[in-house]
Amino acid sequence: MIYGRRHDPSAYGSPHSGRQVRVLLAVPFATASLLTLPPAAAQQADGERLFRQRCATCHSVGAGQNKAGPHLSGIIGRPAASVDGAHYSKALKSAGIIWDRQSLDIFLTQPSRLVPGTRMTVRVSDAADRSAIIGYLENQAHN
Ligand code: HEC
Repeated sequence: MIYGRRHDPSAYGSPHSGRQVRVLLAVPFATASLLTLPPAAAQQADGERLFRQRCATCHSVGAGQNKAGPHLSGIIGRPAASVDGAHYSKALKSAGIIWDRQSLDIFLTQPSRLVPGTRMTVRVSDAADRSAIIGYLENQAHN
């Protein structure tokens, strides 16, 4: 009886307690390593994710691959409505815009405010999300 008690593992705590401590320590370490990503890399990843979620149904970043909307490869520096084979509204064709960070930011906030009559209706209301998406598009210039 006494012999049995001395070797009862519960006297030394649960055999799982060591593992619980390791899991609790791992969470803050994982968070810290995300925060140490260079901001530009983090933003690029964010921009790609947002683009996939909110734009990719209608837009590709591969040159020549038009979907419901024109492809957005090389969009920065390109005149609005200038992709061959894409179907554009009259409104966008006559908008006279050269896409840059600023015009894209205004367009994505509310397309119809910059180009009344455009068929692009998707709005990105969060400024940080717009900036991440535009940053991602800036890097799709050579596809
Ligand atoms: C439901 C489909 C759809 C979605 C989703 C969509 N767009 Fe569009 N987009 C269009 C269409 C259609 C046009 C052409 C509009 C026109 O001709 O008036 C367009 C045009 C554009 C243009 C102008 C392209 C050019 O050649 O001048 C940009 C830039 C653009 N979209 C960016 C985006 C971004 C960034 C997103 C995601 C936040 C997005 N779009 C989401 C359908 C979409």
